[in-house]
Amino acid sequence: MAEGLLTGETDPVANMANLAALLHQELGFWWTGFYRVEGEELVLGPFQGPVACTRIARGRGVCGTAWAQKRTIVVPDVEQFPGHIACSALSRSEIVVPIWHQGSIVAVLDIDSKEIGTFDDTDRKYLEKIASLIYGPSKDIWFAAGCFWGAQKFFKLIPGVDFTEVGFANGRLENPTYEQVYTDTTGHAECVHVRYNPSVVSLKQLAELFFKIIDPLSLNKQGEDEGTRYRTGVFYEDGTDASTLEAVFELVRSSLGVNSLPVELLSLSCFYPADEYHQDYLDKNPRGYCHLNPALFALAQKSMVDK
Ligand code: SME
Repeated sequence: MAEGLLTGETDPVANMANLAALLHQELGFWWTGFYRVEGEELVLGPFQGPVACTRIARGRGVCGTAWAQKRTIVVPDVEQFPGHIACSALSRSEIVVPIWHQGSIVAVLDIDSKEIGTFDDTDRKYLEKIASLIYGPSKDIWFAAGCFWGAQKFFKLIPGVDFTEVGFANGRLENPTYEQVYTDTTGHAECVHVRYNPSVVSLKQLAELFFKIIDPLSLNKQGEDEGTRYRTGVFYEDGTDASTLEAVFELVRSSLGVNSLPVELLSLSCFYPADEYHQDYLDKNPRGYCHLNPALFALAQKSMVDK
């Protein structure tokens, strides 16, 4: 329903206004609205519900913390969240979802409930998806390309990629830690979740770029990294993506003169984001380990110029 409501309208404030109304009316929350990033502050945007605080500094409250930490924050009980800003004394639980556009957070969606423990990880997932439609169409794809540190840096440089996060995909263990995946017994692959605007960059272009950063003939080994957690693959959520991806795989097979590749092409069965330490790792640690040739990062940046 949200997708239909937002499709065709390009003004983000109009989309925020209608999305606040839709979520509020349909789901009956206490306060549903947006704060937009203006310099070093969040400024109140379209909302439904009682009057609210107008400005929140970065790092303050749940909203400012979600912005500073670049992640969705689910607060089951606001009294247990240090620094929670009580715009309304009746609010008991809260979720704040960052809204990404062209690689930066431009706003947050904030929803308050009068009940304790209203929001869970499923709400997080769906609200992140709905919020991603405010600045235009958005789609998701997951790439396993060996060590995820360099792969994330590569994908986030591609114009049209709005958001990336690293994590673990298509294994058996729920909510695995990095250390558990490192044992190579969980079935998970290190993976980059890529959210992109399909009117700027196509899935075909992203898949072709993916093949530039892997050795497509190497099974369970990329660079110095070895193990099933470093296997390569493309995992899709939208079944209609399979034929587009299969066509790119076929081109790679024929150019290499092989009948099959040790690169998976599967639907995504699960994805668990890795902890903060691993997100944007090479931005935080520019001298950190990376198996990718630096020339590849320049290729990602100029990829759309040559399209
Ligand atoms: N509780 C929020 C402030 C905004 S209101 O909930 C509308 C916070 O702590 O950031």
